[in-house]
Amino acid sequence: MIPSSPKNRRFFTGFLLHLHPRTVPSETLRYSLSWGLGGMAALLVSLLFLTGTLLLLTYQPSTDSAYASILILIREVRFGLWVRNIHHWSANLLVIVAVLHLLRVVLTGAFGPGRRLNWIIGLFLLFLLLSANFTGYLLPWDQLAYWAVTICTSMLGYIPIGGLWLQELFRGGAEIGPATLANFYVLHVVFIPGTLFILMLWHFWLIRLAGGLVQVEKNSPEDVSVLRVPTVPNLIVREAAVGLALMAIVLVISIVWNAPLLEQANSGMSPNPAKAPWYFLGFQELLLHLHPVFVVFVWPLLGIAALFYLPFWHDSSLPTGVWFGSDPGRKLVAWTAAVGALATLVIILIDNLLLHSGEAVAVNILITRGLLPTVLLIALLVGFYFLLVTKLKHTRAEAVMAGLVLMLVALTVCTIIGVWFRGPEMRLVWPWVQQSL
Ligand code: HEM
Repeated sequence: MIPSSPKNRRFFTGFLLHLHPRTVPSETLRYSLSWGLGGMAALLVSLLFLTGTLLLLTYQPSTDSAYASILILIREVRFGLWVRNIHHWSANLLVIVAVLHLLRVVLTGAFGPGRRLNWIIGLFLLFLLLSANFTGYLLPWDQLAYWAVTICTSMLGYIPIGGLWLQELFRGGAEIGPATLANFYVLHVVFIPGTLFILMLWHFWLIRLAGGLVQVEKNSPEDVSVLRVPTVPNLIVREAAVGLALMAIVLVISIVWNAPLLEQANSGMSPNPAKAPWYFLGFQELLLHLHPVFVVFVWPLLGIAALFYLPFWHDSSLPTGVWFGSDPGRKLVAWTAAVGALATLVIILIDNLLLHSGEAVAVNILITRGLLPTVLLIALLVGFYFLLVTKLKHTRAEAVMAGLVLMLVALTVCTIIGVWFRGPEMRLVWPWVQQSL
């Protein structure tokens, strides 16, 4: 509710101005510049903190009582089911919103000089929120949780040096059990939220230091003066509109759909198929086609290194504050996304046929399904880059945007297939009939 008396209003405005500067460049109020995605992520994190604290009032972090405490929460505690649902849907939505936010930062060139450190902090935020999601996944101690965490921690074992050590560290022993639950609980309720909170404050502070959101570069000296408008009400009204709309969506979703809960965890009975949480299913899909060392270690390492390197890659052609940089940039990204999605789908289908035809029995799969695809992928990306820059006369910035979109689209297609089109024994199925394709 908006406070009505002048004293209240001054207090309210003062509080908001702790979070925002007194004035903001009017250009950055354009909704289509950021789609409010960073603000949405911040709101979802706040909802998670709030509902998570409420869940702690009932949840018991031991393998004997965790599942039962969730049943009590959803059956006997007033609004318990709703609070659990809000926590679940906010967490899942946060992954999608944060990835879209990262994409908008790339596509509006908002990661260059002045924003480099914030890009790096953003990457850590992404890592933390994925970790928060993953550690929370185990807490209900049901079949879904137990086997998803079994699969993901088994993947760690493929990391060449120290993989098994890391696996044991997370599990708190050789198998998933009470020590794993204790580890995940502490990470989920203390360490990760604490670090996330501090990094978020730093993230917001750096946006202020950079003078607000990214703006279109000024070319002539007359352009240098930026029109600034008061934050209250101009920015606040827009933020409130986005925040209220998002909150309404989350609350309604949480009334309509319940967070999943299967039977209590049973280490002797694996579900078929046993799947990782949806945001890791792209990697589980890759595991069906490629050597595990490359899926779990080499490819993520290359991807993470590329993301960290991105802001330090010098290019004066980096367009700021303009989506896709230019009109040719927009067309390039659209084409790349469409062709990339189709190509990924075709490769998966062809490889699926090859796998079922008994290929790779006598061959060294470390080479055929590891080294060779990796070299091919790097050659494809480098070739694509030079084709765009030298022959098709795109700027280097546009070529890099297209490369990143290509990788993200390919991972998204793998994730969609993993979520909806993989059935028993991880065979391809139609999701609506669960029959083999
Ligand atoms: C918990 C996750 C995150 C939260 C709460 C968050 C929040 C925000 C907010 C509120 C803004 C300003 C407004 C907006 O863009 O909507 C922003 C800007 C920014 N974010 Fe994030 N962010 C998160 C994750 C990330 C990630 C994953 C990246 C990329 C790796 C990133 C990089 C940036 C950058 C570079 C800016 C400055 C953009 C500009 O100047 O236009 N953030 N963030």
